Amino acid sequence: MTPERWQKVEKLCNAALECEGSQRVAFLAQACQGDDELRREVESLLAREKTAEGFLQSPALEIAAAALAKMPAGGGGPSLVGRDMGCYQILSLLGAGGMGRIWLARDSELGRDIALKELRPEKAGVDVLQTRFVREARITAQLEHPGIVPVYELGRRPDDQQPFYTMRFVKGRTLTEAAQDYHRRRIAGEADSLEFVSLMSAFVTVCNTVAYAHSRGIIHRDLKGQNVLLGDFGQVVVLDWGLAKLLDRSEDDLDSSSIVLDREAAEGRDLTLQGQMIGTPAYMAPEQAAGDFIDQRTDVYGLGAILYEIITGQPPFKGSDASDVLRKVLNEDPVPPSQLCKEVPAALEAACLRALKKDRVNRYAGAADLTYEIQTWQEVERRRAEEELDRFFNLSLDLLCIAGFDGHFKRLNPSWERVLGYTSQELCARPFLDFIHPDDRAATAQELAKLVTGAKTIFFENRYACKDGSYRWFLWTAIPSVKEQLVYGNAHDITHRKRTEEVVRGSEQRYRSVISAMQEGIILLDADGAIRACNASAERIVGLSGDQMIGRTAVDPRWRAIQEDGSPFPDETRPAVKTLRTGKPCSNVVMGVHKPDGELTWISINSQPLFGDDGKTPAGVVASFSDITERKHTEERLRQTIAELEGLKKERRGLLNHDRAELS
Ligand SMILES: Nc1ncnc2c1ncn2[C@@H]1O[C@H](COP(=O)(O)OP(=O)(O)O)[C@@H](O)[C@H]1O
Ligand SMILES: [Mg+2]
Repeated sequence: MTPERWQKVEKLCNAALECEGSQRVAFLAQACQGDDELRREVESLLAREKTAEGFLQSPALEIAAAALAKMPAGGGGPSLVGRDMGCYQILSLLGAGGMGRIWLARDSELGRDIALKELRPEKAGVDVLQTRFVREARITAQLEHPGIVPVYELGRRPDDQQPFYTMRFVKGRTLTEAAQDYHRRRIAGEADSLEFVSLMSAFVTVCNTVAYAHSRGIIHRDLKGQNVLLGDFGQVVVLDWGLAKLLDRSEDDLDSSSIVLDREAAEGRDLTLQGQMIGTPAYMAPEQAAGDFIDQRTDVYGLGAILYEIITGQPPFKGSDASDVLRKVLNEDPVPPSQLCKEVPAALEAACLRALKKDRVNRYAGAADLTYEIQTWQEVERRRAEEELDRFFNLSLDLLCIAGFDGHFKRLNPSWERVLGYTSQELCARPFLDFIHPDDRAATAQELAKLVTGAKTIFFENRYACKDGSYRWFLWTAIPSVKEQLVYGNAHDITHRKRTEEVVRGSEQRYRSVISAMQEGIILLDADGAIRACNASAERIVGLSGDQMIGRTAVDPRWRAIQEDGSPFPDETRPAVKTLRTGKPCSNVVMGVHKPDGELTWISINSQPLFGDDGKTPAGVVASFSDITERKHTEERLRQTIAELEGLKKERRGLLNHDRAELS
């Protein structure tokens, strides 16, 4: 690979790592358009980043990159992509561990994809490793359990006789990736607690698989999250039986239930000499690190390490280098999981720490005991959750239900019986649409159709029949579970509100007709003193249309409001303003306002406050007013007449006085 080419690969690789997992494929397809080789190189580098099992378990990109810079893509050594090995055509690199490279290949004879494992090229020449590799294939093949991939074939490459074996291809990700991903999202507040439950179920499968292997006289010795694959369809498989060891038994003990290896493989037992350290430091049991005697409790430790990874997102020990990690494995207690993740259930923390005890006599005696502990926790949790749910279910005053996509109720809380009068059995026996008001059935069926496609329901209303023939109004919120083909629904009885609304609607209509028929002008002003509504008489009296009036405030200069003496009406003493300020009504305030054509109209105003929720602060004002222009004119005329009369009287009195004076 040229330096330029390498730089390009590295750049793409870094960019791809920035992408969300799901977007990487699309990103690479786009970025490497037309250059398949480039894409393969980047993908294999990413695959290394994902699965490479460096000594410390964190080889990071640099190690992989450095290795790749020196050699062609493909987990070290020449890439096999595109090569034919017998009936297998190599498609891509699935992963590479400490020992091997795993390729995705096409079996052209059977027409299926398979995984093909071979030794890493730098290990391929070592006889003892070849023997161990063959042994790994045989042990894996003989361990027949749903938690272990079936081996299809053990073969040798036609050209150099290197061994390889083929097995079921499991599409998915490693338990390490799943646990890290879960904890990343947990910290970001985006994780679903169900994910943790499913990681724990996977863990139980791992424990059962290991217990099975123990029952066949095999210990794994390299249990860690990266050696567990979680398939996209719920498969959980324990991989990599390359370090597996036959439990020390004499040949006589090898009954039919024990693994039987042929001579070559049986000799392989000596490959794992006592005193030789094998495994991955971050997950390694102390006795393994010390090169001591090993038994199935070593695997119990490995299971504890996997559990630690699930509940905290990291292995039990971390350090600056391998020897630092090993020193901690031998001398230090792991950080209690609850210090790394405070939500860790106490029972799981206790089980994990017990499995990780330095002295194996303090651990669980076998994988089955740990399984039992975890399953007990799961059962206790399940019951607790169920009881909690039952309590809410039975306590709720709302009507709770679980209904099937088939149109039948599956479970109802006691509120249904109380509200509708039908028993749960009666309600479950017939399609629920039967109980719905005929006018609401079509809309309900339509809502249900939306739920079936995964949409939520909020604020949906319909009427349900009661046993006595009446109907109750329900307000629904519901969420579907498409996987379970169920709808979880919550109905709130809103019959009372509906009836009140009806009464209000009826009385509002009556009220409106009274108001509009009134001779008096009525206007409604909001808290800002702006007109919000008015009746026809108001429009007539002030000579404005409703549209012109709405929005005008009580102090709008266009009113050109005056007092009886003809002076401008002060803003602060206008009735609406006063009532808004004080909360007190005003009555019979006389005001002159000018119509748009300039004509002066006299009105007498009463104002009443409208109080808000607190009953203290006015939220508006109702002002009623009558046209008193006519009265004012009459009064004026009367005043003039009186004045005239007074004038006449004065004149008469003047004349009389004059006459008297003359007479005297
Ligand atoms: N059957 C398989 N299907 C899909 N991916 C696999 C399969 N076997 C192994 N892998 C991938 O390859 C990686 C390394 O495999 P492993 O058997 O652990 O190799 P090693 O012995 O070198 O550690 C695994 O972590 C996994 O990502
Ligand atoms: Mg491995």
